[in-house]
Amino acid sequence: MEAVRVKLGLRSYYIYIGTGVIGNLGRRMKELACGKKVMLVSNPAVLSMYGDKVKKSLAGCGFKVVTAEIGAGEEYKTLATAGKLYDTAFTSEMDRRSPVVALGGGVVGDVAGFVAATYMRGVPFIQVPTTLLAQVDSSVGGKVAVNHPRGKNIIGAFYQPRLVLADINTLETLPPRELRSGLAEVIKYGVIWDSKLFTWLEEHIELLLCGERKALAHVVRESCRVKAKVVEEDETEQGLRAILNFGHTVGHAVEALTGYKRYTHGEAVGIGMAAAARLAEALGMLPGPDRARIEALVRRAGMPVDLPAGLSSGAVLESLYHDKKAAGGRLTFVLPEGIGKVSVRRDVKEEVLRKIIRY
Ligand code: NAD
Ligand code: GLY
Repeated sequence: MEAVRVKLGLRSYYIYIGTGVIGNLGRRMKELACGKKVMLVSNPAVLSMYGDKVKKSLAGCGFKVVTAEIGAGEEYKTLATAGKLYDTAFTSEMDRRSPVVALGGGVVGDVAGFVAATYMRGVPFIQVPTTLLAQVDSSVGGKVAVNHPRGKNIIGAFYQPRLVLADINTLETLPPRELRSGLAEVIKYGVIWDSKLFTWLEEHIELLLCGERKALAHVVRESCRVKAKVVEEDETEQGLRAILNFGHTVGHAVEALTGYKRYTHGEAVGIGMAAAARLAEALGMLPGPDRARIEALVRRAGMPVDLPAGLSSGAVLESLYHDKKAAGGRLTFVLPEGIGKVSVRRDVKEEVLRKIIRY
């Protein structure tokens, strides 16, 4: 078992990473000295696989568990789902000390975290991420949100968990497509911050795709380390934290234009990272061989690198301008200058962008 500390003063917390760490949930939560009534939020599929282990660990340490199921999938990351969770919390007489535990992927984590941030103005929040994406990204850093019909993650808050338990064993049951999707975010950390991690990925990507546990534990730990550093410096995204959106500007447009159905979030980010690398090369910021390394790794991780055929560059541009990150009409791009270093650019000319989109 390994631990990564996110240092945020009074809101600091540990991320415990390892095989079988779910069994320690009750003991770890006891250390937090929170209330004994716990709302466990998950979806039916994840509950059927890991619910019993979690409940056993909690009951063994004197916690009383109220289980709250939500539907699986992005379409349940809504205020309506949050409303049902508030109802359950209220009818179960949860108070301000009663913790909310999120067991699942990023959807469960985001919506349960949003409820934890807002029920009675905030109750203790614990993340037990069970997808690779959630273990390396969404469970760490405190972004919690639900979607609005007009946009993703529009209603949300920064609300740090008190504890994160990333059990590598849970990745064993993850569909291969979801595993690959999580790898997109791992590649992201390599490009934006950690060239050593990027090189390690180039050497070990096949092991990861086979679900080798030690390799997975390694990338979860290294990814959490990078994310912790960025969040410690800029918790509420006033500046530096924007680099975590590498690949997401074009990625979000691709997701939106394909109705959030054709691609997983990670696949869309893969396309977005490749597009950002091509853009950086076109702007003379990124040497060609580094662009090629980024594209090759995304491909080897089993993800697409090209924008979907049939999307007009006009539609992509329009979607980009609608992105919530378009500040004052200017698009924000996180662009690599090499492997391990990015900069945020708001001066990308439309004609260069059009050329990349048509590519
Ligand atoms: P997800 O939560 O939809 O999970 C994907 C699927 O995997 C679901 O069907 C789920 O039931 C299933 N699943 C989960 N764990 C499993 C396991 N161990 N075995 C088998 N199946 C399992 O998707 P995701 O990729 O984890 O998360 C995507 C969400 O995360 C998006 O809503 C995105 O906006 C959000 N996100 C948030 C942040 C953040 O910082 N808060 C960062 C990145 C992404
Ligand atoms: N996933 C982006 C962030 O946490 O800021």
